[in-house]
Amino acid sequence: MRLLVTGGAGFIGSNFILYMLQRHPNYKILNVDSLTYAGNLENLKTASDNPNYSFSKTDITDAHGIDLLFQQGIDVVVNFAAESHVDRSILEPEIFVKTNVLGTQVLLDAAKKYGVTKYVQVSTDEVYGSLGDAGLFTEETPLAPNSPYSASKAGGDLMVRAYYETFGLPVNITRCSNNYGPYQFPEKLIPLIISRALNDEPLPIYGDGLNIRDWLYVEDHCSAIDLVIHNGRIGKVYNIGGNNERTNIHIVKTILQELGKPESLITYVQDRPGHDRRYGIDPALITQELGWKPKHHFETGIKETIQWYLQHKDWWTRIQSGEYKSYYAKQYGERL
Ligand code: NAD
Ligand code: DAU
Repeated sequence: MRLLVTGGAGFIGSNFILYMLQRHPNYKILNVDSLTYAGNLENLKTASDNPNYSFSKTDITDAHGIDLLFQQGIDVVVNFAAESHVDRSILEPEIFVKTNVLGTQVLLDAAKKYGVTKYVQVSTDEVYGSLGDAGLFTEETPLAPNSPYSASKAGGDLMVRAYYETFGLPVNITRCSNNYGPYQFPEKLIPLIISRALNDEPLPIYGDGLNIRDWLYVEDHCSAIDLVIHNGRIGKVYNIGGNNERTNIHIVKTILQELGKPESLITYVQDRPGHDRRYGIDPALITQELGWKPKHHFETGIKETIQWYLQHKDWWTRIQSGEYKSYYAKQYGERL
């Protein structure tokens, strides 16, 4: 199988490529990533010598560049490439629309032109908006995105649906809850709190800290996508989540306790505009239809993740200092 994975230099994409190379040693994986601030090829150092792995620095909005890549022959597309950070989307929505909507449409067009056995759109529970105290997101929950990020992801999802309904493109959409684990960019809550706490810096908590997210270890997201590629019913949406709802303040206190750092670092700051109160996924469909079950319990997963960040301080300090840009220059010279 020849797999085209977009956004493979990011957090989930790089974990997915490493997972798939190990799980399916005969598959060929082409990683297509434009290397924005969030893309880091260092995540894939262990894959770089694998003859089944290749990389192309291409923007998914570049229709000509994408067309050339499809000429190599692609069986399956998994689209992770996106602008992914809600706070950035509030400051600069345009790039979110460009990458998350237009980029998706460019990929769909190429998939339609050359033919694929499956196109998987990696989406998010945020397209459903915010939950009250009760209930969970199912695949039937109406789309009600509240941030420019989630609106752009919903726009991408609707393009995917349209290519299925109009052109019969064999698609699936996955909508996962918040991921955590190795290689997550330190602008997101968990790595941000770990890295700032280790530096004894104030920890910004938005609003009252009681917003709830449903956390899933990244490897469990990867195993779900693997199942969807192989067994997902064409045209279906699959929600992915591990029933791990936690308030933000609980997450932060857990990290502080694990690191032996004082709660006095916690600093309540102005709330995120349009801040969704609660996310919670009902994973019944993927569990019953595809037999998916998460392997990692949150209590052990969060400890392992904290240990990973402790052991890979060089990885995140390089990112924070911007030094990884010069790492690219040294490692790849003129090519990137
Ligand atoms: P990330 O920001 O860590 O990585 C995104 C990757 O996409 C980067 O490598 C970046 O260089 C690349 N990229 C961005 N714009 C591009 C473009 N125009 N062309 C080519 N490559 C481009 O994001 P992530 O957290 O790994 O999320 C990956 C996907 O999963 C996204 O689609 C996101 O919406 C979705 N998702 C994320 C979570 C989560 O908790 N992080 C949960 C559910 C769904
Ligand atoms: O639910 C899936 C989504 O999860 C993905 O689609 C997004 O790509 C991913 O970024 C994530 O979105 P969130 O907005 O939930 O993640 P973030 O890490 O930015 O924030 C998690 C919670 O923590 C949220 O309620 C806001 C809060 N927060 C975040 C930051 C960065 C703070 O209180 N302080 C902070 O400094």
